[in-house]
Amino acid sequence: MPQLIEKDACDLLDADHVAVKHLFVEYARLATAGDPAGERQAYATKICSELTVHAQIEEEIFYPALRKAIDAPELLDEAEAEHQEAKDMIAQIEAMAGPDAAMDDLVAKLAAAIEHHVKEERTQLFPKARSAAGLDLDALGAQLRQRQQELEAEMA
Ligand SMILES: [Fe+2]
Ligand SMILES: [Fe+2]
Repeated sequence: MPQLIEKDACDLLDADHVAVKHLFVEYARLATAGDPAGERQAYATKICSELTVHAQIEEEIFYPALRKAIDAPELLDEAEAEHQEAKDMIAQIEAMAGPDAAMDDLVAKLAAAIEHHVKEERTQLFPKARSAAGLDLDALGAQLRQRQQELEAEMA
C-alpha cells in the first residue's frame, strides 16, 4: 500500500489558498453570467466560512509558531492586520441578504485583498518558515489539520 504522505504546514495552508481562489473565480464567473438562480450566494457563504477557519488556524497555531521561530515581527503584525481587514469584509458579506451588485463588489474587494495577503505568505512567510531551524513543519501541519477539522465540524 502506498504510504499516505501528509502535507506539511505550508503545503496545507497553500492548498486552502488554492481552493478559495477557485471559489472566488467561480463566484466571479457566475456574477458575470448574470446568475439568474442566485447560485453565487452559496459560493459567498463557502468563501466566508473557509476563510474564517483558515485565518483562525493560522492565528492560533501557525503565526504564534513563526513568532517564536523567525525574527520577522513586522511581517506577522502586517499579516494579522490583513486578517482583521478580511474579517471585517467577511462580516459585511455574511450580513447581506442575497447576491446583488453590492455583494459582487465586496466579494471582488475581498478576493483582491486575499490575493495580496496570500502572495505575502507565499513569498515571505513560507520561505522563512521553511528555512527556520527547529521549526517542525510536519508536526505543525498535523496540528493545523486537526484544528481545521474541529472548526469545520463546529461550523457544519
Ligand atoms: Fe493563509
Ligand atoms: Fe493569512
